[in-house]
Amino acid sequence: MTYDDKVILIDLRTQKEYFKNNNKEFQTQFGTLTVEQLQSDDSHIETEKGYKYLKIKPQFIDKYNHKRRQSQIMDIKDTGYIITRCGITKDSVVAESGCGSGGFSTIVAKICKKIYSFDNREEHIDVVKENMKILDIDNIELKLKDIYTDEIDIEEKVDVFLLDLPEPHNAMKNAIKNTKKYGYIVCYCPNINQNQLLVNYLLENHNEELKIEETMEVLNIKWICKERSARPFYKDTIHSGFMTFLRKL
Ligand SMILES: C[S@@+](CC[C@H](N)C(=O)[O-])C[C@H]1O[C@@H](n2cnc3c(N)ncnc32)[C@H](O)[C@@H]1O
Repeated sequence: MTYDDKVILIDLRTQKEYFKNNNKEFQTQFGTLTVEQLQSDDSHIETEKGYKYLKIKPQFIDKYNHKRRQSQIMDIKDTGYIITRCGITKDSVVAESGCGSGGFSTIVAKICKKIYSFDNREEHIDVVKENMKILDIDNIELKLKDIYTDEIDIEEKVDVFLLDLPEPHNAMKNAIKNTKKYGYIVCYCPNINQNQLLVNYLLENHNEELKIEETMEVLNIKWICKERSARPFYKDTIHSGFMTFLRKL
């Protein structure tokens, strides 16, 4: 599966978005969009009854948004912040645990050199493999490992190690061992009490090896900006997770 035969259709009356095959006509109660229309270069198409649709050929981020999901994925606002906060570039080597559905790794893989990814659930690894095909990615190396109990020895030390797990403190020894001096370990915790447990553990056990730089969250507030309205769109939840940035010493 590569998603090369997909098309995004946006109903201009309702703004509802559909992700459809472009080799099968799209039938609605308001008429039909033909295969010829779906495969054409036109961005504006309409049914024989005059109902208008926007048509978009999926780009990387559209395919990413429609990839397979097996678990809660990292929000792109957080992935984007980690990339810039840790200075991930085309030369960076990154590690993560767990892989989840590849929410973090399939974006970062497009800009970094290599990602090593460890998860203790085979079905999650299989989903990431499928998403790598959809997104044309070949630089994520997936391994079935329990990062809390298995010994992890990566062949090269990494610039950034992301821990997106329920108990990041239990993965800390493996993360410290495999991260370069002055590299980053980033812990992603949806709940602040998880984060507090983590920081207290670090202060007691790894104070000499790590500099705790900060705990923070990124807020993404969507606004309605149309006609006479210009205000935040309150319906959206804004919290996703707290991030603690640790500097390997
Ligand atoms: C919230 S998901 C990670 C989401 C991922 N960052 C993304 O953006 O898609 C947590 C993952 O950690 C994995 N996990 C939980 N405990 C683990 C352990 N002890 N060792 C390795 N992976 C573990 C789970 O199987 C799950 O895939």
